[in-house]
Amino acid sequence: MKRIAVVPGSFDPVTHGHLDVIERAAKLFDEVRVLVMHNPSKKALFSAADRATLLREAIDAEGFPGDFVIDVFTDGLLADYCTRVGAQVLVKGVRSQVDLSYETPMAYFNRNLAGVETVFVVSDPAHALISSTLVREVYSLGGDISPYVPAVVIAHLKGQL
Ligand code: PNS
Repeated sequence: MKRIAVVPGSFDPVTHGHLDVIERAAKLFDEVRVLVMHNPSKKALFSAADRATLLREAIDAEGFPGDFVIDVFTDGLLADYCTRVGAQVLVKGVRSQVDLSYETPMAYFNRNLAGVETVFVVSDPAHALISSTLVREVYSLGGDISPYVPAVVIAHLKGQL
């Protein structure tokens, strides 16, 4: 049986922390589906389509070995998406106890809804303080976000993509 994992998130924009989780997921599973979703508690900077394009470009630029599918699903349950594509596992990065507290109930619900298990990957300390939320805030106030995001994001913001 092909082991398919979904790495879901807002990815608004993709950061070095996300890429680390995606690369590590690919070492554990046969296929990784990176899924751009909508988080109603967050105001988006990039469209879902742009987020997916940036993920594709960033993963290709990194040259990670593995089978990656980039997908967008913004109007339904993550559990239903997993059932549709035959994914058995969700992979989530955890930076702190706060992340774990946020993720644990979702892992419980997703397992009840679709029998999908959640695997938590502990963030590399180099990325543990990076969040897309702060990246968006720093960018919107004119700060430099280049240390936190792949070069494709900067190129996109400069209109070079
Ligand atoms: O990167 P984020 O914003 O932390 O990702 C959160 C996300 C999008 C993975 C979460 O909000 C989610 O799973 N949304 C999909 C809708 C859904 O299935 N909700 C029920 C979760 S138990």
